[in-house]
Amino acid sequence: MPRIAGSGGSALRRVRPVVASGKGDAEAGPEEDGPKGATAPERRSATIAIYSVKGGVGKTTFAANLAWCSAQAAHHSDGHRTLLWDLDAAGGSGFLYGLEPKGSRLAEEVFNKDRPATKLIQKTADPLVDVLPADESIRALDAQLMRIGKRKRLAKLTEELSADYPRIVLDCPPVLNELSAQVARAADLIIVPLPPSPLSARALELVVREIAGTTKRHPPILPVLSMLDMRRALHRQVREAQPDWPAVPYASVVEQCAVQHRPVGAISPNSPAAQAFAMLWRAIEAKLAEKRG
Ligand SMILES: Nc1ncnc2c1ncn2[C@@H]1O[C@H](COP(=O)(O)OP(=O)(O)OP(=O)(O)O)[C@@H](O)[C@H]1O
Ligand SMILES: [Mg+2]
Repeated sequence: MPRIAGSGGSALRRVRPVVASGKGDAEAGPEEDGPKGATAPERRSATIAIYSVKGGVGKTTFAANLAWCSAQAAHHSDGHRTLLWDLDAAGGSGFLYGLEPKGSRLAEEVFNKDRPATKLIQKTADPLVDVLPADESIRALDAQLMRIGKRKRLAKLTEELSADYPRIVLDCPPVLNELSAQVARAADLIIVPLPPSPLSARALELVVREIAGTTKRHPPILPVLSMLDMRRALHRQVREAQPDWPAVPYASVVEQCAVQHRPVGAISPNSPAAQAFAMLWRAIEAKLAEKRG
């Protein structure tokens, strides 16, 4: 059973920000599906999934902006690139970076290993952010993964890509299926955006339960309040109930990302929203460092 500190009580109950992961991996398969955890302590690369079972909660916004924050951190240190991998056929991550859909159906071939992922990766205006875009073909990704039958295919692909991209950010679709199970096996950390609502703690518990059900060794899960508007009484109430969760404010500059095709940090670096994403990225790096031990 997944453990959530402080659970029980009202729908607004407090939940500690990082949910403990399970222990041991009973699912490690024989072939390509070797246990990722076995090499984790030496690995300095990391895959960060932005995931929720719910739609419209800010996943794509988080993914695009956090990839940019990752690149900013790299600009100041080792100069390594970040890959933003769009796993949602809607293609929002590529759109936020102004990438044009190519109109082809190729993304699914990456999962079949018919085409190397590197052939599909596109450059963005930021030299340290590349995007592996989605297209219509991955609408059927769930069925495709079931057909392939490799339970760690996504983990294997991210591991291969991590040689070139020490940080990989996955923009996930709001699904609960084989793809989300593969995401849980591939990720070192799962970020769950939660718009403030009395149901936010419940939504998180649903995600945790489902993720924990897919693999015994699930990665840490970090809930983050999304679209927080402190002018609204309900949002203040939720904030009060979850003071430890990182939060991204509701802001028109965030909506501008889709208009200007640039991350909020590039549009307005000093805005509270840009600062919030930067702070969240630092929390992510701290969690990854803690996990490495
Ligand atoms: N902090 C914010 N302030 C204002 N608007 C926001 C904020 N975060 C997200 N939005 C807006 O909310 C909408 C949904 O965001 P987004 O597309 O990132 O969600 P999603 O979870 O990826 O959705 P889907 O499940 O459909 O893929 C978008 O119009 C986005 O611009
Ligand atoms: Mg999305």
